[in-house]
Amino acid sequence: MKHYLQFSDFSADEYAYLFARTALIKRKFKSYEKYHPLVDRTLAMIFEKASTRTRVSFEAGMGQLGGTVVNLTSTDSQLGRSESIEDTARVISRMTDIVMIRTFGQDRLERFAEHSRVPVINGLTNEFHPCQIMADLFTYIEHRGAIAGKVVTWVGDGNNMANTWLQAADLLGFTVHLSTPSGYEVDEKLAFGERQPRVGCYKIFKDPRQACQGADLVTTDVWTSMGYEAENEARRKAFADWCVDEAMMAAAKPDALFMHCLPAHRGEEVSAEVIDGPQSVVWDEAENRMHVQKAIMEYLLLGRIGEQP
Ligand code: CP
Ligand code: NVA
Repeated sequence: MKHYLQFSDFSADEYAYLFARTALIKRKFKSYEKYHPLVDRTLAMIFEKASTRTRVSFEAGMGQLGGTVVNLTSTDSQLGRSESIEDTARVISRMTDIVMIRTFGQDRLERFAEHSRVPVINGLTNEFHPCQIMADLFTYIEHRGAIAGKVVTWVGDGNNMANTWLQAADLLGFTVHLSTPSGYEVDEKLAFGERQPRVGCYKIFKDPRQACQGADLVTTDVWTSMGYEAENEARRKAFADWCVDEAMMAAAKPDALFMHCLPAHRGEEVSAEVIDGPQSVVWDEAENRMHVQKAIMEYLLLGRIGEQP
C-alpha cells in the first residue's frame, strides 16, 4: 500500500506514468466517455481548513470514476471534539477505501497515515501541497511540453507550495528560482531532509525581478496562507514588493506562463493584468487538479493498469 503525503513519495518514473494517465483520463472526460474503474470504492475527505478547488475536484473526480465520497470537517465530526487523529484513522480506514486530508501540520497527516489501513493523500498541509504541484506540472506539459531543463520562478512566501516546488525540481530535473522576502524563506531541510538536493535544482534571489529573468514559468501564491492569519498585517508590509506584475513578467521569457494555485488576491501577490492576461493559465491549472487526482486515486487503488495512451 502506498500513500501520497509529499511530492517525493512518487519517483520520476511514476510521475511519467501518472502524467500520461492523466492525459488519457482527461480525454475520456472531455469526450463524455464513461470510465468507472472505482465502482463500490469510497473516498473519505477530511477538511480541517477551508477549500473550494480541492473539495470539488476530489468529489467530482471520484464520482466520475464511479465511486462515492464522504466529506468530514473538524467542525462537524468528532475531530472537533478532541477524538484523536489516530483513532479517527483506525475507524475511517475500516469503512472506506482511500482518504484525502487537508490539515495543519504534516505530522498530523503522517500520524493518520501510520494508523490507516488504506492509502492517504495530502490535500494540503502547512508544509506541502503535492496534488497542486502535480496539476501545475501537468498544465505546463500540456501547454509547453517537457519540464526538464526549464526554469520555474517562485515569487513570494516560502510556504507549502514553494517547498513542494523544491521537491519537484529535484526529482524532475528543472530549476526553481526563488525570491522570498527576508524572514519568509523556504526551509530546505523540510523539502530535502538530510539528503543533498540535485546540484542546480534551485537558486535564491533577493530581487524578484531578477529571479524572473529567463523564466519559463512564473508562479506565486497568497501572502498569508491558511493558519497564519494573525501575521496578516506584518506580511502585507513585508511582501509589498513581491507582486507579480507586468514588469516582472516582461523579465521572463516572452512565452513564459503564469500560474497561481488560487484563491488569488488581485493587487497583492499578482496584478489583475497578469492573472487575467494572455500568459496566465490559472483556469486550466485549477481544472487539472481534478484530472491529476483521478490518476492518483486510480493508481493508489488499482496500481498501474494496462491501458496506456
Ligand atoms: N488551490 C487549492 O488548493 O484551492 P482550495 O483551497 O480552494 O482547495
Ligand atoms: N499556500 C496557500 C495555498 C492555498 C491553496 C495556503 O496554504 O493557504
